[in-house]
Amino acid sequence: MKILFATPECSPYAKVGGLGDVVPSLAVALKEMGHDVRIVLPKYGSINYVSKCEVVEGPMIVNMGYGVEFAQLLRTEYENVPIYFIEFDRYFSRYGVYGEFGHGYHDNGERFAFFCRAVVDMCPFLNWAPDIIHTNDWPTGIIPALLSLHTKPNILNDTKSIFTIHNMAHHGYASKELLQFTGLYDHYWHPFAMEACGAVNIMKGALQFANKITTVSRTYAEEIKTAEHGYGLDDVLKYRAKDLVGICNGVDMNVWNPTTDKFLPENFSARSLEGKKTCKQHLQQEVGLYNGLNVPIFGVVSRLFHQKGLDILCDILPNVLKSMNVQFAVLGSGDQHLEWRLKDVMSRFKDQVSVRVGFDERLSHLIEAGSDFFVMPSRYEPCGLSQMYAMIYGSLPIVHATGGLIDTVDNYDELTGTGTGFVFNDLTDSALYNAIGWACATYYDRPKDFEKLRQSAMKKDFSWSKSAKEYENTYLAAIGKSQQLD
Ligand code: ADP
Ligand code: GLC
Repeated sequence: MKILFATPECSPYAKVGGLGDVVPSLAVALKEMGHDVRIVLPKYGSINYVSKCEVVEGPMIVNMGYGVEFAQLLRTEYENVPIYFIEFDRYFSRYGVYGEFGHGYHDNGERFAFFCRAVVDMCPFLNWAPDIIHTNDWPTGIIPALLSLHTKPNILNDTKSIFTIHNMAHHGYASKELLQFTGLYDHYWHPFAMEACGAVNIMKGALQFANKITTVSRTYAEEIKTAEHGYGLDDVLKYRAKDLVGICNGVDMNVWNPTTDKFLPENFSARSLEGKKTCKQHLQQEVGLYNGLNVPIFGVVSRLFHQKGLDILCDILPNVLKSMNVQFAVLGSGDQHLEWRLKDVMSRFKDQVSVRVGFDERLSHLIEAGSDFFVMPSRYEPCGLSQMYAMIYGSLPIVHATGGLIDTVDNYDELTGTGTGFVFNDLTDSALYNAIGWACATYYDRPKDFEKLRQSAMKKDFSWSKSAKEYENTYLAAIGKSQQLD
């Protein structure tokens, strides 16, 4: 199949969260299965790969509703997968992907509507007819509607769209004028199309017009059909239920692998954990925690947003630090209020807590590798990659029982000594406190169990092999070929 991934994020070029990791790693897995896979994203100001890019000849015409615009198409390769960048300075010369300094850009609707239109017009420009355009989250959510137009480029007549929900909470709202701006007709302004509560809801349009919808774990696929997690679109999802499938994210084992990771001072594996001790020492030195190899380190690497539940960690952290002999290494950025709260705890417990504010790929690997536990008290979590990275790196996740965290972490069973982490049911101060206490007690009082859990976690298979096959089956179903389910 010919598959085009349209995405706002793609590591190593532009990454804000897990979406940036998922797109290239899934694309590479599908490429290795023999498909013709390509990726397209905007050329943001922060991407300085231009010297390694070739310019695709000729300006590309983008047919906006109000007239034509001219964009430049750039091309490079990542692990043999062609990557296209759409260069158009009015919208994409700015540094950020969605915004800067914690604020989204005011014209994100227009920016990503332009991107969607450019993705559609890129296919005739390249004379390449994908069987599937795989769209990801609301910034690419107008593409399915554009493919439903009878005036779309002829080359796309047989192209089907897949829409993957990485996060149900962000819909992309705009005023009615966005339809005309993008070249969509007025009849898309309808509750059965893209209108919701007097605005254009881009996610809603994607859910209505995509041939198939996927989300990033089985549990989340069920959760988003409920009022609690559907953010007002649960009825649309119930209506589309037979076209909705949950496929768990995989991990790019070329990037997140403790035996080969180039960011680590020393590599390690489940069989040889000496290198993990070195990583722990380096982590302590680097972030300024006193050197105590026998004290458990709890790691956090996260976007600092309401979703991640770290306000609850801030509530209990002083009590945890007063009553348990533990250390915390935190890396995150986002909500300034949360940054301040975390830094406030650090200022009071300097020996036990280190907080780094910012986005730091290398340090994120070192925290996964150097910590003993990894804390993710997410309010909701469509899939979550960080807890999978933690397990692969021998750091036991402590997670709230929600979404993909349920699907990927096996709770510790004290009777059998089995499990790969610590799962708690209610997201309350006391439940999180108890879960951290449980992990701490396991570390100090049941070291054999701790090692057994660590071995089980490190040996879990999080590679893409199974999930990529499920995507392949979804594509086949979308283009009307029979599925070959295992
Ligand atoms: P989400 O996509 O909701 O943020 P995931 O767990 O799926 O959650 O993915 C988070 C990804 O972003 C991981 O690769 C994690 O290492 C990375 N990440 C989050 N915050 C930072 C940060 N401050 N610095 C470096 N990497 C980060
Ligand atoms: C989103 C979700 C996260 C998921 C990631 C990649 O950012 O919050 O749970 O792992 O997308 O699919």
